Amino acid sequence: MAYETILVETRGKVGLITLNRPKALNALNSQMQEDVVAALQAYEADETIGAIVITGSEKAFAAGADIKEMHQKSYIDMYMADFFSGWDAMLRIRKPIIAAVSGYALGGGCELAMMCDFIIAGDNAKFGQPEITLGVMPGMGGSQRLTRFVGKSKAMDMCLTGRMMDAEEAERSGLVSRVVPAATLVDEALKAAEKIASFSLPAVLMNKEAVNRSYETTLTEGLRFERRVFHSMFALEDQKEGMEAFSDKRAPNFRNQ
Ligand code: CAA
Repeated sequence: MAYETILVETRGKVGLITLNRPKALNALNSQMQEDVVAALQAYEADETIGAIVITGSEKAFAAGADIKEMHQKSYIDMYMADFFSGWDAMLRIRKPIIAAVSGYALGGGCELAMMCDFIIAGDNAKFGQPEITLGVMPGMGGSQRLTRFVGKSKAMDMCLTGRMMDAEEAERSGLVSRVVPAATLVDEALKAAEKIASFSLPAVLMNKEAVNRSYETTLTEGLRFERRVFHSMFALEDQKEGMEAFSDKRAPNFRNQ
């Protein structure tokens, strides 16, 4: 399917989504939100896909929500449209999504990256929540997710001063999982996604669900959830195959069941 604001391609078992509004530094307008969600849903439904990568251009992952689309809107426009709520559909994608961030990931761009399951950053990446400089605040999760990822002090610093964080600081702070040379960013992200897609899909989905549960519940409940899901995995043929392959000293042949 062709989209207006993104490019999509399938690389083996990986779906690659490239944000593609270069003249606006990939500013996230409503069309891009619809396109990204539709592409994610298509990959979710595609049985041949095991993981998804979202990336932008070398200069910008995304420089934020589209300010030009928003600036004339009134409170009632924003409220009645429940503006940005369309992104919530992303949270219902069960397959892993990696953000491969090069250049600017500002405002909604940083928030989109944080909605992914983990972030791999190019060494030229710059993260920020500059909404304060526009007289507003984050509206796609920045004040909540950034605080959980990097802690209160740094999240306050970012949201209140609007300053940018470079890739090295983002890795040190726990915002990104790894930093790689910008020139190899997409290849590295695809490699990580291919690795994930080579594993048992049900096991991958259960791992993702369990890690996400830790954000929504107490430690005791989270540990109980983890143990129950772990036990349930012994109903999977892939568990038998994975453990037998280890004993036989051969590569496992997972069949996603
Ligand atoms: N929305 C709309 N257009 C944007 C944009 C945005 N967020 N960011 C950049 N653009 C456009 C610019 O207007 C410019 O378009 P024109 O050529 O038509 O003038 C084009 O992209 C290139 O941008 P610059 O000329 O500004 O490029 P630069 O290299 O000089 O600066 C930048 C790059 C520092 C990222 C700068 O563009 C910038 O500060 N952008 C805005 C960042 C921002 O404030 N983001 C937060 C948006 S609000 C938000 O995201 C709310 C939320 O919580 C969801």
